[in-house]
Amino acid sequence: MTFELSRLVRENIRRLKPYSSARSEFRGTAEVFLDANENAFGSPAGDGYNRYPDPLQVELKGLISASKCVAAEKIFVGNGSDEAIDLLFRVFCNPGRDEVIICPPTYGMYRVSAEINDVAITEVPLTLEFELDTPAILAAISERTKLVFICSPNNPTGNSMRRESIVEIAGKFDGIVVIDEAYIDFSAEPSFVSELETYPNVVVLQTFSKAWGMAGLRIGMAIASAGIVDLMNRVKPPYNVSGIAQRTAIKAFADRAKIDEWTAAVLDERAILSGDLAALAFVERIYASDANFLLVKVVDAETVYRFLLESHIVVRNRNNVELCGGCLRITVGTPDENERLIRVLRQFEKTESEGV
Ligand SMILES: Cc1ncc(COP(=O)(O)O)c(C=O)c1O
Repeated sequence: MTFELSRLVRENIRRLKPYSSARSEFRGTAEVFLDANENAFGSPAGDGYNRYPDPLQVELKGLISASKCVAAEKIFVGNGSDEAIDLLFRVFCNPGRDEVIICPPTYGMYRVSAEINDVAITEVPLTLEFELDTPAILAAISERTKLVFICSPNNPTGNSMRRESIVEIAGKFDGIVVIDEAYIDFSAEPSFVSELETYPNVVVLQTFSKAWGMAGLRIGMAIASAGIVDLMNRVKPPYNVSGIAQRTAIKAFADRAKIDEWTAAVLDERAILSGDLAALAFVERIYASDANFLLVKVVDAETVYRFLLESHIVVRNRNNVELCGGCLRITVGTPDENERLIRVLRQFEKTESEGV
């Protein structure tokens, strides 16, 4: 296949003259900032909040670049990876004309973003083993297909997709293959970021919301060729990542060891939780997980879900999701939280066996 970025991009985006913000226009060192109509006196919120943040998050990208061994120009930083997903639609998909492929059951925002952007969705469900149906995906591609979404490890199933399948799709499709690696830090599989030189059509999504523990800050990344990143930067709102989010994330890099420690703890807890769940009579199956959650098939998902809620424990009910009938998605918590969950589930097992 031949991949031609300029041919894929929407015509209006190719022609777009992006907004030029005050802070991105000047070069050099300044001491007096009278360029952005900010409040020069200060901010009741604290030091520095009266000023607009860095529109291109240079310092943060420098740290991400060093930690992922990828050039800063290949990193887009957004208001969560959800912003990156939406931008990919806006850069590549003509509303009312183009199509994308998604592989349910998978992360719900691909569908929602497609619908918001009026882009047709072709669904190619995962196989019964939750693997990509590669021949069906390749057969579903039309000349209007712009994006193929692959979530690996996948939400809500938890498994990583087979690398050969991803490689085959990335190698044969001349549009954009989006590989969402939101849960990659919990996986033994290597990231696809190292393959970007070979596959210029791949966009890898990652996030600070999961292993990095910063869901509340809203910082996500798209890692791709400099050309794709440049297009996303041209379309994004000028100050898409707040100053507080940038500064706090920069500070978090100093505590990197803590993230590795927590990630290891999540993996240990995942194994313990999986063992405890497997011992429950009403648990039919626990799917193998490469993420910080387990997909668990139970005899009566609705009843278990309600029982947990009554005990003030909320899990995600996936009973009505394609291929996930009878399933609950349970995030791995702290040891205390997991023990409490298991205690309540044992209580459920007891009431069921007593026929109460
Ligand atoms: C697969 C996947 N991608 C992306 C996201 C969104 O991440 P963010 O918080 O960076 O928007 C989620 C959130 O649950 C997810 O499960």
